[in-house]
Amino acid sequence: MDIARAGRRGAGARLAYVTPSHQFPTGAVMPLSRRLALLEWARRSGAYIVEDDYDSEFRFDGRPIEAVQSLDHQDRVIYVGTFSKSLFPSLRLGYAVLPPSLVDPFLRVKYLADRHTSTLVQLVLSQFIAQGHFERHLRQMRKRNEKRRAALLCALERELGATARVDGANAGLHVVVWLPHLRPADEPRIVERAARAGVGVYPLSRYYAATPAHAGLLLGYGSLDEPQIEAGVSALGAVLRAA
Ligand SMILES: Cc1ncc(COP(=O)(O)O)c(C=O)c1O
Repeated sequence: MDIARAGRRGAGARLAYVTPSHQFPTGAVMPLSRRLALLEWARRSGAYIVEDDYDSEFRFDGRPIEAVQSLDHQDRVIYVGTFSKSLFPSLRLGYAVLPPSLVDPFLRVKYLADRHTSTLVQLVLSQFIAQGHFERHLRQMRKRNEKRRAALLCALERELGATARVDGANAGLHVVVWLPHLRPADEPRIVERAARAGVGVYPLSRYYAATPAHAGLLLGYGSLDEPQIEAGVSALGAVLRAA
């Protein structure tokens, strides 16, 4: 993210949407110096930062990363999270931690935009959290996902070795696999052949404004068990060798 460009006169950005603890999709962690620069830009230009901490419950390596919001003393950060990763996506529940001055405007906009978030589901979830079940569930999920991640990294190393570079594996439920021997134009063919072999992968270059130097794939593993991961990566390896 080019923070200097946002701050240039005439750029006029009023809001920055960022995923600083695990950039989507690359998994990069925004360093402290850039977090501070972003906050300084927001303060100077009266802009807001939306900090989407979409998968922070699942951090496998290193210490937990402090939120940008916790560095903010000017009420410029809107922190949002989701239960889609930690529970399940069809729950359709997330949350926002707002600067106090934005609580009323958010309630009003929420009322106009969507006044039907299920009361029953919210009540059940709040009791699930209050009674300690969510904490316990997260601990179990962390252990389970850590094993799945280890199986994925091990299978990728075995199948692809030095022909691939894996990024962003220290957190979340997906990894990025860069393929330095292939071009971004090769991605659709690889994705299609992988799909025919029963493996769903996502092309990486569509997340870029400018074409990246190499082909890349996004691999999600949150819903797969270890044997499925092993089988999927073997099939993907065969597709990539053929490419
Ligand atoms: C970057 C990012 N933010 C947020 C979410 C969650 O969105 P939602 O809460 O609408 O399911 C996802 C996907 O699950 C995501 O990839």
